[in-house]
Amino acid sequence: MAGGAFVDSGPAGKEYPGKLTLYVFFTCVVAATGGLIFGYDIGISGGVTSMDSFLQRFFPSVYEKEQKNQDSNQYCKFDSQLLTTFTSSLYLAALIASFCAATVTRVFGRKWSMFGGGITFLIGAALNGAAKNVLMLILGRILLGIGVGFANQSVPVYLSEMAPARLRGMLNIGFQLMITIGILCANLINYGTSKITGGWGWRVSLALAAVPAAIITVGSLFLPDTPNSLIDRGHDEAARNMLRRIRGTDDIDEEYNDLVVASMESKLVEHPWANILRPKYRPQLTMAILIPFFQQLTGINVIMFYAPVLFRTIGFANDASLMSAVITGLVNVFATLVSIFTVDKFGRRKLFLQGGTQMLICQILVGTLIAIKLGTSGEGSFGKTYAGFLVFFICLYVAGFAWSWGPLGWLVPSEIFPLEIRSAGQSINVSVNMLFTFIIAQAFLTMLCHMKFGLFYFFGGWVFIMTTFIAFFLPETKNVPIEEMILVWKAHWFWGRFIGDKDIAHIGKNVEMGKGKPKADA
Ligand code: BGC
Repeated sequence: MAGGAFVDSGPAGKEYPGKLTLYVFFTCVVAATGGLIFGYDIGISGGVTSMDSFLQRFFPSVYEKEQKNQDSNQYCKFDSQLLTTFTSSLYLAALIASFCAATVTRVFGRKWSMFGGGITFLIGAALNGAAKNVLMLILGRILLGIGVGFANQSVPVYLSEMAPARLRGMLNIGFQLMITIGILCANLINYGTSKITGGWGWRVSLALAAVPAAIITVGSLFLPDTPNSLIDRGHDEAARNMLRRIRGTDDIDEEYNDLVVASMESKLVEHPWANILRPKYRPQLTMAILIPFFQQLTGINVIMFYAPVLFRTIGFANDASLMSAVITGLVNVFATLVSIFTVDKFGRRKLFLQGGTQMLICQILVGTLIAIKLGTSGEGSFGKTYAGFLVFFICLYVAGFAWSWGPLGWLVPSEIFPLEIRSAGQSINVSVNMLFTFIIAQAFLTMLCHMKFGLFYFFGGWVFIMTTFIAFFLPETKNVPIEEMILVWKAHWFWGRFIGDKDIAHIGKNVEMGKGKPKADA
């Protein structure tokens, strides 16, 4: 039982020569800004949907209900399907778009996917800022969603391919860092625009999405393509030059040859979508589905989308609610930095296990604190100190997510697929993520109304399941070159059975050529 169920399986693979060049660093920073548009969206809708002027104009029935319900059942005062459609329509659009993005990233390269995403998002922002009716609002959200689908499909893969193996975690998490910065900016902007008199603050919030969109649209034009994608599309000399440039050394033959072998392997595969169902890809396919599913079932987006609504539910005034959302946003950004500096040292598994445990404890505490004050009737309110504790544990929960499931939910899927199924695999990852983001966005207000404080126990139960799953089924992937990842699965106590010796034979090819020796010591 290589690796053992609870034991880290890595590190396998070899180290290629080269260093972290400024060029690759800046390239990755620019590409990571693709995360800003996703983050901005996540953060902006909750604040906007809690602004009275926005509700009065587009969702008058919700507004009336909220006014009437001032003192009665706190759990149910925002429950409206139409209102949640505003938030969640974006994620359905992103789900569908990520499948088209798979073809664009594979055939034209990763950068054109990012560019396409940026442009669509820009148009969506304009439509939303100028919205006159619900239709314009939802149409705008759909365009934003298409933008997010393209960006989330291409950026994580781009980062993982550009980065040297031993710093892949750090550079990839730049994407999640930008997501959290996007969320925080959105929270701050909502805080500011809610104070605009005249009731048009929400327009500013929605239109400002154009700023992150312009950054990634213009930025993507300057991005080079990854060596993996260049080789795959037949530009061998350009790929060699790119590799020299991003690794800062002429000694790139070993890595180059491995990429060529990986590309030749991938050429044997004609239909990535049908292929991904073959038994030898079972471990990667399972992760592509379960990791994003679990990421959403942590319940994080209850906080991210609805923090202001949630804090108002608990009885905070509007201003205090928006301020609390800013606080959770700040915690989210700073806690992500922790994972940037530890992920390649301690590895993915340790972060998953620690973060999961922390989240679980906080969820039980938050559920219990709310239960004590609001009970099942939903009547009552919180004193200052009590509310302070609640916000504190919510922040601790957000921190746990921010150094585990947040970044790793994007990093791990982007680094485990062999080239031939990478684009298809990443689309599955994005679409499952978006599907469950959609379901939770759509269902949260109703769930809160019916499950009450039990909602926090519900998500806590899922965190328990996913943490156990990681302990047994996710091998350590830190420091392993991306085109050699198959060795990690082969060495795993459970997944090894799906991978035959011939499936790893191509990795041996380059070894036989005397170009390097992978040490699969997992
Ligand atoms: C998730 C989002 C979440 C965000 C919070 C991302 O990794 O995909 O759904 O809102 O993290 O920071």
